[in-house]
Amino acid sequence: MNSQPRLAEYYHAGQKTDKIIPEVKEKMSKHPAGMAVDELSLESVKKELFERHHPSLLPIDIEAHAETVYRILGLKKKHNVLMLGHNYMEPLVFGLSQTEEQGDSLGLSMHAAKTESTYILFNGVPFMAETAKILNPSKTVLVADKTAGCSLADNFGAEEVKSLKAFYPGVPVMIYINSYADAKAECDICCTSANAASIARQMPGDEILFVPDIYFAENLEEELKGIKTVIYPGKGNQQKGAVCEVHERFLLSDLLAVRESFDIPKAHATRVLYAHWECRPEVLQEADFYGSTSQIGRDIAKRVAENQLERAFIASECELTANLAEEFPTVQFWTACSVRCSHMAKVTLHKVLKALEAIDRGGDLSDHEVTLNPEVIERARTPIERMLELSA
Ligand code: 13P
Ligand code: SF4
Repeated sequence: MNSQPRLAEYYHAGQKTDKIIPEVKEKMSKHPAGMAVDELSLESVKKELFERHHPSLLPIDIEAHAETVYRILGLKKKHNVLMLGHNYMEPLVFGLSQTEEQGDSLGLSMHAAKTESTYILFNGVPFMAETAKILNPSKTVLVADKTAGCSLADNFGAEEVKSLKAFYPGVPVMIYINSYADAKAECDICCTSANAASIARQMPGDEILFVPDIYFAENLEEELKGIKTVIYPGKGNQQKGAVCEVHERFLLSDLLAVRESFDIPKAHATRVLYAHWECRPEVLQEADFYGSTSQIGRDIAKRVAENQLERAFIASECELTANLAEEFPTVQFWTACSVRCSHMAKVTLHKVLKALEAIDRGGDLSDHEVTLNPEVIERARTPIERMLELSA
């Protein structure tokens, strides 16, 4: 076997514990990834950024971006904006959200469902912000970049759901959250990578139709073997499905090469290979742990608390690893930094600031505001609320 990883660039995102002086280590272990500046000033923001000791934030980055971060935090506070941050945001954008405002699709939907803020700025891709809008139709929901897509949501819409449904009358339809509102409106229930298996088990009957992610569906099929039959696009039908263009890049040969190059043997006590549910089935089966982005983070937290994690590789979007490397400085993280989601990467500090400045001017928000047809909101709310009920 060729032990060279195929993916071009890998980087070591962590810091070795023995290289960190004890006082800094103490501070780092207490410091959450989110910014928690009490007295807002440019100096306090800079100090906070330096104290994050982020392995990929150099002093030159902090000097270059502190002013923008300061202006964003000022406007966020002034207009009481709920700023949700998906785990795939680059570290400076991720850090604009408080720890409780950060998370995976499920956590952020749950947070969006109970906010009092008038404005929600969703640092993620538009399908995620649509969920926040559906749960808060009277609120103003904004994104930094409305053109950011997702290969799953963009390639499977309401028409595809309808034509597939017609083949399987009476079978409950479960749609992955990575889809747009009009597609959700055609389905019985929604799910995320954090709850798909549990939700499917709770649905009536012994069959479930899952759309649109084909690899996810195959992974679910394996998980539910002997419990429920999973039907999906392309399985016994002509319907084309979709895959995540980021996670499909990880091949089994990459994972095997990673195990060898970074010395992460299978089922090792303190070295772990993680994968996201959207990966290919053979990749998921090779991983030591698989889950949603936050479930991966929680498993890392648990192992760190038990002193059971020295090294990890995560087969997912590389900014997830960058953010976890900040949160868990004692772990040696490796990631493939060429595996980035180009859609998520469209959310930059500069665009976040532009969205907040538009609120501040009190003028036209159309470059950022997520708007949906009220009838679609009404119909898409049912599958999302059902999911939240079954996840409670
Ligand atoms: P999570 O729900 O696990 O955060 O995943 C969302 C996503 O887009 C993964 O690619
Ligand atoms: Fe969509 Fe994949 Fe990007 Fe997630 S990582 S937003 S599934 S393209």
